[in-house]
Amino acid sequence: MSEIRDESLWESGKRKIEWVRQNMCLLRDLEDRFTREKPFSGLKVALSVHLEAKTAYLCKTLAAGGAEMYITGSNPLSTQDDVAAALVHDGLNVYAWHGATEEEYHRHISKVVEAGPNIIIDDGGDLVNLIHNEYPQLIPGVIGGCEETTTGIIRLIAMNKAKQLRFPMVLVNNARCKYLFDNRYGTGQSVWDGINRTTNLIVAGKNVVVAGYGWCGKGVAMRAKGFGASVIITEVDPVKAMEAVMDGFKVMKMEEAAKIGDLFVTVTGCKDVITENSFMNMKDGAILCNAGHFDCEVDVAGLRKIAVETKLARNNIDGYRLENGNWLYVIGEGRLVNLAAGDGHPAEIMDMSFAIQALSAVYLVKNKDRLSEKIIYVPEEIDNEVAEAKLRYWGLEIDRLTPEQEKYLNSWEV
Ligand SMILES: NC(=O)c1ccc[n+]([C@@H]2O[C@H](COP(=O)([O-])OP(=O)(O)OC[C@H]3O[C@@H](n4cnc5c(N)ncnc54)[C@H](O)[C@@H]3O)[C@@H](O)[C@H]2O)c1
Repeated sequence: MSEIRDESLWESGKRKIEWVRQNMCLLRDLEDRFTREKPFSGLKVALSVHLEAKTAYLCKTLAAGGAEMYITGSNPLSTQDDVAAALVHDGLNVYAWHGATEEEYHRHISKVVEAGPNIIIDDGGDLVNLIHNEYPQLIPGVIGGCEETTTGIIRLIAMNKAKQLRFPMVLVNNARCKYLFDNRYGTGQSVWDGINRTTNLIVAGKNVVVAGYGWCGKGVAMRAKGFGASVIITEVDPVKAMEAVMDGFKVMKMEEAAKIGDLFVTVTGCKDVITENSFMNMKDGAILCNAGHFDCEVDVAGLRKIAVETKLARNNIDGYRLENGNWLYVIGEGRLVNLAAGDGHPAEIMDMSFAIQALSAVYLVKNKDRLSEKIIYVPEEIDNEVAEAKLRYWGLEIDRLTPEQEKYLNSWEV
């Protein structure tokens, strides 16, 4: 029995899924292939990923392969109720609604785990944590899982180091066809889509502060520059900071950037990146948001505590007045701005990420008796297959190595 907000919303959700389907050529091919081959026949798949149309299409693709799907979101603000309704209308099991409280969110992911999954598709590690901590009796039934994002992978590697990870997990985020495109170009575009549609303000001429110059930060900074902003980077890694300097950005400490920034985007995967010290130094009207996985990068709870007045400034933008009289504005409660205030990454980008998810799940099933390690890197063949297919769909051809060139590149003798 599913738990969603309103099943009558299914038609709007169905339209959204059909739109992304038209733009997700790799998943379309996989849907056809899975319909014929049924690689997940008899298997239960638990999935916790931002529940919007692209994710829904991944769910339908896995279901076409014979999977019995148990679906929840990975963030209470990114779930779209009409999309959830469309999945339920198609007979899939969904436990999620937009704006779930902490308790409801926990109940929803618990329901998914209680189904006793064989495969886990996780985004940020919530399913893996829950099954290890609260449902260890279900672990023997799990073949393995796939993790979508950087933050989830950091957790998995830490768990594995402590010898606590009890089934194999594929590091989907670390595939080249994931982080090079999804993290950089996907986040780069969708973060600005979320900010722009929510604020309806100009980016050109503003001082935009991007905290973190990893794959996501590079995309966010690159697109801010394209909009005409003056971009400032804050970092803790000296090499990444140097890279930002060479890419033409100003680099400074957050305490300095706080004084001059008009718009702040955190995307570090770390916590307490913007805190009280910085809030007190910010300009009146400064806007803050986060694109990292968890809502702990901008200390919104701390801001709430020191605010003398609060207001809803605009849909999805909360205003906080400080003792010094300045108003600061936070988009989407400090949760992933591209999903809490937008529709997430473009469909063509998620096509690649989710093709890797689906092919990695097949890999787990096919190799289930041979996987000796708990941390599994996406095989190079999957990465290449995804890139080749995407190039083919875009009508692009590339050169091939001749046998002589291959030999030359693989030998040490001249
Ligand atoms: N919004 C989205 O749709 C989306 C998409 C992909 C990844 N993510 C999330 O975004 C975050 C970043 O992912 P990534 O792939 O860019 O990771 P990454 O490891 O490539 O980059 C993170 C960068 O942040 C820097 N950093 C860490 N702590 C910092 C601090 N306190 N101040 C300044 N810089 C700091 C690190 O040195 C690193 O360069 C993760 O939480 C990831 O899960 C979000």
